[in-house]
Amino acid sequence: MGTEGFWLLVIGFSLIASEPISNSTEVFARNSTELTVDYSDIESKFSIRNPEFPDEDLCYLVPGQRDSILDCNFKNDSQTFLIIHGWSVAGLFESWVYKLVSALFEREPSANVIVVDWLDRASKHYPKSAENTGLVGADVAKFVNWLEEMDYPLEKVHLLGYSLGAHVAGVAGNLTNNKVNRITGLDPAGPSFENADHLRRLSPDDATFVDVLHTNTRGSPNLSIGIHYLNLVFQHENSRRDWHDMDQIVKCSHERSIHLFIDSLVNRAYQSWAYRCSSRDAFNKGLCLSCRKNRCNKLGYGVNKIRSARSAKMYLKTRDMMPFKVFHYQIKLHLFSDKNMTLLEQPMKVSLFGTADERDDIAVTVPSMSTNSTISFLLTSDKDIGELLMLSLHWEKESYLYGFFSTNQFMIRKMRIKSGETQSRVMFRPKDGEFGSLVQGGDAVVFVKSSETPQSRREQR
Ligand SMILES: *[C@@H]1O[C@H](CO)[C@@H](O)[C@H](O)[C@H]1NC(C)=O
Ligand SMILES: *[C@@H]1O[C@H](CO)[C@@H](O)[C@H](O)[C@H]1NC(C)=O
Ligand SMILES: *[C@@H]1O[C@H](CO)[C@@H](O)[C@H](O)[C@H]1NC(C)=O
Ligand SMILES: *[C@@H]1O[C@H](CO)[C@@H](O)[C@H](O)[C@H]1NC(C)=O
Ligand SMILES: *[C@@H]1O[C@H](CO)[C@@H](O)[C@H](O)[C@H]1NC(C)=O
Ligand SMILES: *[C@@H]1O[C@H](CO)[C@@H](O)[C@H](O)[C@H]1NC(C)=O
Ligand SMILES: *[C@@H]1O[C@H](CO)[C@@H](O)[C@H](O)[C@H]1NC(C)=O
Repeated sequence: MGTEGFWLLVIGFSLIASEPISNSTEVFARNSTELTVDYSDIESKFSIRNPEFPDEDLCYLVPGQRDSILDCNFKNDSQTFLIIHGWSVAGLFESWVYKLVSALFEREPSANVIVVDWLDRASKHYPKSAENTGLVGADVAKFVNWLEEMDYPLEKVHLLGYSLGAHVAGVAGNLTNNKVNRITGLDPAGPSFENADHLRRLSPDDATFVDVLHTNTRGSPNLSIGIHYLNLVFQHENSRRDWHDMDQIVKCSHERSIHLFIDSLVNRAYQSWAYRCSSRDAFNKGLCLSCRKNRCNKLGYGVNKIRSARSAKMYLKTRDMMPFKVFHYQIKLHLFSDKNMTLLEQPMKVSLFGTADERDDIAVTVPSMSTNSTISFLLTSDKDIGELLMLSLHWEKESYLYGFFSTNQFMIRKMRIKSGETQSRVMFRPKDGEFGSLVQGGDAVVFVKSSETPQSRREQR
């Protein structure tokens, strides 16, 4: 098990405002039959996939050719997913494409799953491919408009775009005559989009509902592929490197967001939750595990499409493999001492014992411990332990030499623990005596569940 990734989910909520854009672009004739639209310049291909052969291009839907709908067995009463890939190194589909196709069929067996093939335009030098997203977006918009002209309802259309493909989806969503139901952006590519205008990149009003899954693993190189929008401030040093390096950076970017989305499709029993938070620091302090007023939401496919005027930044931790779900806890306690001290970055090991299972030795670093102050930190378990009954806290030596001579010690009288997944708040007391003595490099202190409920006290106020 071990290392957990750190994921950041951003969900852009948009209000429904599906005014047709009518004459804002000359490409589309709004009024009429498909014959009035010129589809001849469409270079992108629309491969409709089959659950039995998820990685094979067996039939292409051709905009303007009604026969292709019948030939390819497009189901006009099922929902439709369009998968849009990103920058391509080799001019081939990457393996995530068929994995996502399979996962969509597994969740929605009757769906139309279409892979948008723009490999020719995507396998150029990165900046050229990035520029091509506009053309491909226009292709996809024409395709969607064509479906709508054949009375296919756009409420059933969900665009899924990865990396540059997320911006293709954004451009497309903006150019369609009416809004598609949903666009999911999976790690929207950053370079050359940072300062792009709304028409060129994915933005919250490109669909009735826009959600962006933005992953960023701790310890990854700083040259992260990311974008800075929807109130998300993303680390972006070294963005002035030359374009050759940029290709490398893009190539090295992982497909984690895709696997997280696939997880949400296929592992329904392990639905991950994300929590609204103002910053990563606040999240790591465990301060954001509330679900009140829609502050938490499901990650991925099953997201509750809550409409709100503002975008929300949501955070969660994950395991390093599927199913990614972890259980989040806030641990809050007061540190008493006669000695005045402040210690930073302290390593702890926490063991959890619950009604269903136990999880030993979860490593956590407490950013700051000061005399007579309250600390709060986030703890995650990759196991579902059920209802938490007992916990042990072990303060490890900071380093061998330092810890060996250390006599640092704090007294703890009680501990409040909030669970994100169950929303329960429970008070814990030292198992032996009124105070537990937490000694640096010493023995673990055991706390047991108390009958007091911090919540009810809070409510009395
Ligand atoms: C857009 O179309 C409407 C009628 O559909 C028309 O009144 C308006 O002048 C047009 N705007 C532009 C910029 O062409
Ligand atoms: C529809 O398009 C045709 C040809 O493009 C045009 O002649 C006709 O006036 C249009 N009708 C409306 C209602 O805009
Ligand atoms: C869906 O397809 C069936 C047969 O292919 C057709 O009878 C029906 O009218 C279509 N529905 C719509 C809304 O186009
Ligand atoms: C397209 O984007 C522009 C600028 O952000 C916006 O005003 C317009 O409403 C968008 N159109 C659609 C259909 O989303
Ligand atoms: C990369 O990030 C680490 C911390 O995450 C920082 O210490 C380091 O200075 C950064 N490197 C560059 C080149 O910005
Ligand atoms: C504890 O130390 C801090 C600075 O290290 C100081 O500001 C504070 O006054 C001290 N408090 C006591 C009670 O000694
Ligand atoms: C911390 O508070 C306790 C009483 O709550 C007090 O006895 C002790 O002196 C305080 N420690 C410092 C360093 O001020």
